[in-house]
Amino acid sequence: MKAGLEDVVAATSSICDVNGTEGRLIYQGYDIHDLAQHSTFEEVVYLLWFGRLPTKTEFETISRELRVNRHLPEELVKAMHALPKKASPMEVLRTSVSMLSMYDPDVNDNGREANIRKATRLTAQIPTIVAYWDNIRNGRQTLAAREDCNIASNFLYLLNQKMPEEVSSRSLDIALILHADHELNASTFAARVAAATLTDIHSAIVAAIGTLAGPLHGGANQEVIKMLIKIDQPERVEPYIKKALEEHKKIMGFGHRVYKTEDPRAWHLRQMSEALGKQAGELKWYQMSRKVEELVQADKGLYANVDFYSASVYYMLGIPIDLFTPIFACSRMSGWAAHVLEQYANNRLIRPRAEYTGAANLKYVPLEDR
Ligand code: COA
Repeated sequence: MKAGLEDVVAATSSICDVNGTEGRLIYQGYDIHDLAQHSTFEEVVYLLWFGRLPTKTEFETISRELRVNRHLPEELVKAMHALPKKASPMEVLRTSVSMLSMYDPDVNDNGREANIRKATRLTAQIPTIVAYWDNIRNGRQTLAAREDCNIASNFLYLLNQKMPEEVSSRSLDIALILHADHELNASTFAARVAAATLTDIHSAIVAAIGTLAGPLHGGANQEVIKMLIKIDQPERVEPYIKKALEEHKKIMGFGHRVYKTEDPRAWHLRQMSEALGKQAGELKWYQMSRKVEELVQADKGLYANVDFYSASVYYMLGIPIDLFTPIFACSRMSGWAAHVLEQYANNRLIRPRAEYTGAANLKYVPLEDR
């Protein structure tokens, strides 16, 4: 028995390969560095679902589908208005995706074509839900989703109610590429376990969203920026981190179950954090992050993971802190869908065993005698 299923191979998959010793990440045969440099999130969605890069026509088709399906059913928007304003964006996202299944025209069809249509709608709609919730809870109007730009630009447009600068849009687009898939991470595994019962794709995605919300998974990026805000000044980094490590506290954004070297995604996010800092004339968050990284590396031998630098990147894009994890979901939706489709295509119920460590041979005592 391996605690936390560490190193246990629980599926075969052609979607994503994580090489933890070399620090390499591959989507369907393509290195993440290549994709981050040359690709777009829309193209990566196609790659993950169809196993190869799209032709020009296929790319235009999927991009169009991901644009025209951004709008939410009116009933969902009304329901969102009725939710308590203090509800966390991850709770709202989980509930909204669950509601969307009831409005989906393919709800009763679990075939591959229908599931691709459902996955397309969800990938297009999740960013709208996240941005709308921030508008609704802050009493702002909700603008109609645009159909003339990519997912990253439309998300920033809906959130900030103005079109983003090119550098902001491309930074978010790269962040979406980097977060799109990561083999059998906890939320993807949850999605596959659900799909393996042959339940519908919406149920699998709801399971994944709930799993992503935890601070040991997608919730870590929010904790990173909270820590940086608490530290506030570069000269306060060292005493803060030393004290935390002495007290055996975990520093969020460090360590990884699979990577024993640098997470290749962190490399890109570090560059982006610096570039956005320079653009904004505010390098403090980048400089503090660098200092934290040096100290944790020297003391614990741990490397920054994807969540560490995504925190300062999103913060400098002006994104509210509790939307960091939902943005992760906007991207990982594509990977969850790819894994659900793969699970359905070659399914067997996932049902492991537990090693029993409980009591034995107890004799039942009637209630009145206890
Ligand atoms: N800060 C300080 N110490 C850490 C650490 C961190 N971020 N991550 C791991 N460690 C230490 C643990 O305390 C433990 O030390 P010990 O053996 O002396 O008790 C050792 O490294 C192994 O950690 P463990 O939590 O058992 O590893 P895991 O493989 O179960 O967990 C993570 C992997 C990612 C959950 C873990 O590294 C973590 O909690 N990181 C912070 C949360 C985070 O950034 N999550 C996002 C992941 S992409």
